[in-house]
Amino acid sequence: MHITDFSLDHFSLRGKRAIVTGGNTGLGQAFTLALAKAGADVFVPTLFDDDGETAALLAEAGVGYRELRIDITAEGAPARVLDACVEAFGGVDVLVNSAGISRIADVTEFGRTLWDPMVAVNLTAAFEMSHQAAKRMIRQGSGKIINIASLFSFLGGIGSPAYAATKHGIAGLTKAYADELGGHGIQVNAIAPGYFATPITAETRADAEANRRIVDHTPAGRWGDVADLMGATVFLASPASDFVNGHVLSVDGGYLVR
Ligand SMILES: NC(=O)c1ccc[n+]([C@@H]2O[C@H](COP(=O)([O-])OP(=O)(O)OC[C@H]3O[C@@H](n4cnc5c(N)ncnc54)[C@H](O)[C@@H]3O)[C@@H](O)[C@H]2O)c1
Repeated sequence: MHITDFSLDHFSLRGKRAIVTGGNTGLGQAFTLALAKAGADVFVPTLFDDDGETAALLAEAGVGYRELRIDITAEGAPARVLDACVEAFGGVDVLVNSAGISRIADVTEFGRTLWDPMVAVNLTAAFEMSHQAAKRMIRQGSGKIINIASLFSFLGGIGSPAYAATKHGIAGLTKAYADELGGHGIQVNAIAPGYFATPITAETRADAEANRRIVDHTPAGRWGDVADLMGATVFLASPASDFVNGHVLSVDGGYLVR
């Protein structure tokens, strides 16, 4: 492409079909809305009932939206999700692996009952979704996979060895799939969100000392707003990032550099 051919159209997702796991709540909802505002139809497998909130937001954006109540860790579920998206929209161009859970306990209490479900959702389901999507994307010779990593893809953290282990695993999966799929016109990247003001972090934000520790450690001097994630999502899903592959993009207000 010649530099004169570049335009904002390279950020457009018009006509694209996207899957966002867990995309009707929290950060996932911001990923969904970002893709929709850029023009994509979005398919959301989720356990969460949001009372039609996300459907209403996407109707406003004027794109297609489907939700499927399904446990993506169940046997055969990822293949069913891909089939359902293809049936609804005719194909899959973008996959965002956002569904994730966190269980916290003292290290001596953190056994297999906490570890196993976190590995199943955070890592194995993301792998299986990517595996199913890759088969279709290879056939069409294009595609974008965006995995949702974390600061704990780089750091250790207290209270959840499975969180750091699965999020480091997500970074590894991103690089391995990028390496293998790059030759098929498919890019696989990750977004590592920093500290975001969501219901999950309400308790930490209400604790004055914990709140100050995080804000002081963040060069931006504030918590992230979920809307801060939307630009990175559109970029990594769009042709504007076609030569970006295997990258873990921190969206953290600079937290990791301090
Ligand atoms: N909230 C943060 O500050 C933060 C920071 C860094 C990374 N992350 C990551 O971002 C992602 C989204 O986090 P969030 O805070 O929006 O979470 P959330 O708890 O608000 O939403 C989780 C979503 O995952 C879905 N989900 C969970 N288990 C599922 C299963 N078995 N089958 C189908 N769907 C399932 C739920 O339905 C829900 O929609 C996660 O991967 C999380 O690790 C979050």
